[in-house]
Amino acid sequence: MARQFTEPKLVIASHNAGKVREIGDLLRPFDTDVVSAGDLDIEEPEETGTTFVANASLKARASAQASGLPALADDSGLAVVALNGDPGIYSARWGGPDRDFNLAMQKVEEAVQATGNNDRRAYFVCALCLAWPDGHEEIFEGRVDGTLVWPGQGDQGFGYDPIFLPAGATLTFGQMDPDAKHAISHRADAFRQLVDACF
Ligand code: IMP
Repeated sequence: MARQFTEPKLVIASHNAGKVREIGDLLRPFDTDVVSAGDLDIEEPEETGTTFVANASLKARASAQASGLPALADDSGLAVVALNGDPGIYSARWGGPDRDFNLAMQKVEEAVQATGNNDRRAYFVCALCLAWPDGHEEIFEGRVDGTLVWPGQGDQGFGYDPIFLPAGATLTFGQMDPDAKHAISHRADAFRQLVDACF
């Protein structure tokens, strides 16, 4: 059985204000005081892992150790089947130094076309790690399957949302309203698992 989260305070191991707010919203029903690694001046470690889980784990552990509090980190990205899982853990980096996702989506499309086959399957992954200062950790991985469309559609969401059509849907993540996306997304899947197991 997973370790239960019973502490009054949790560090979100991220300096991304949007992420911290989203996670804070998701945890609001559990009466937990949430602070961010940024608020505590905890440096973000380099993401040297080779998997989503490894990167979530190293971020959560770094914040738990530095703060003496339990810490939650996520790591996410888009995996394209024909590209053997790329851009994967490098999803943010494919946008270049400016994190230009029009460029990143273009690169994905060109790479898929260069494979010469018509396999357009892709999935988003979200790994979550809840780490305690004593070294214990609980890990969850969420996923949503779909296909890539080109050109991208819609201007909601962020990152690769315009080119991702979830299985069984008629709208891309970029066209869906945020509630519809959050009902089926990789992040929602991982959070449901976390909440069911630990809260
Ligand atoms: P992270 O902040 O290191 O986890 O980087 C995740 C990257 O993956 C983001 O910059 C996006 O490019 C991509 N990504 C993750 N989740 C989503 C999503 O829900 N929609 C679109 N892109 C996503």
